[in-house]
Amino acid sequence: MMTIEHLNVSYGESRILNDVSLEIPSGQVVCLMGRNGVGKTTLLKSIMGLLRSTSGSITFDGKDITKAPPHKRAKAGIGYVPQGRGIFPYLSVYDNLMMGLEALDNPKDNAIEEMYTQFPIIKSMSKRTAGTLSGGQQQQLAIARALVRRPKLLLLDEPTEGIQPSIVAEIEELIFSLQKQGNMSILLVEQFLDFALRIANECYVMEKGSIVMKGEPSTLNESVIKEYLAV
Ligand SMILES: Nc1ncnc2c1ncn2[C@@H]1O[C@H](COP(=O)(O)OP(=O)(O)OP(=O)(O)O)[C@@H](O)[C@H]1O
Ligand SMILES: [Mg+2]
Repeated sequence: MMTIEHLNVSYGESRILNDVSLEIPSGQVVCLMGRNGVGKTTLLKSIMGLLRSTSGSITFDGKDITKAPPHKRAKAGIGYVPQGRGIFPYLSVYDNLMMGLEALDNPKDNAIEEMYTQFPIIKSMSKRTAGTLSGGQQQQLAIARALVRRPKLLLLDEPTEGIQPSIVAEIEELIFSLQKQGNMSILLVEQFLDFALRIANECYVMEKGSIVMKGEPSTLNESVIKEYLAV
């Protein structure tokens, strides 16, 4: 579904991503882990086209999108749920969902209804101002807003970050259910190691902008990963 090869990305003079190569097979969940500041969000932004790479390539669905602008990538089927959720706090829940459909050529008539079915809590709060929702509800809204476009690849940047521990399990359940639907690839940035190892088909660990470990969860040495994640 997506192949990233030898990607290099810099902020000004400082090189953030170093020769990153990563593969996201169709219908699979790939987890990206690594401690704070190693470049996980930078990689997601680069995949979405919000940052330009200095070299390397990104192929999606058989097409080279290395130089494509963000809206073209969204149109091609890449959905993005940014770290911190990125909802519009002063708009209603419904209007946030509608923003997800923006600039879509042929939005499905029932796209919003489908999200209401999948996320009953979002339906019951559709008229509420999004900023008044709890963190977990906002995260569901952010995911629903990405899903109304029916992406082929969903990028999730730390969906459980800053969410009450009691609600983390709900977000995890939601990601499991997306995986079970089986028609979408997911690149998940996740700090909860247990969850990442339970859900991922393939895990990557990043350190200072480079991939230092990768493999199926069953083949990875957990204590080595923990060292990479420790502060
Ligand atoms: N806009 C920016 N300008 C300059 N440097 C930046 C910018 N954004 C991030 N960086 C730097 O790039 C590096 C990688 O940041 P990035 O946000 O990708 O890390 P991360 O792995 O997502 O961290 P976290 O787990 O805290 O979200 C960090 O050293 C950070 O300071
Ligand atoms: Mg980040």
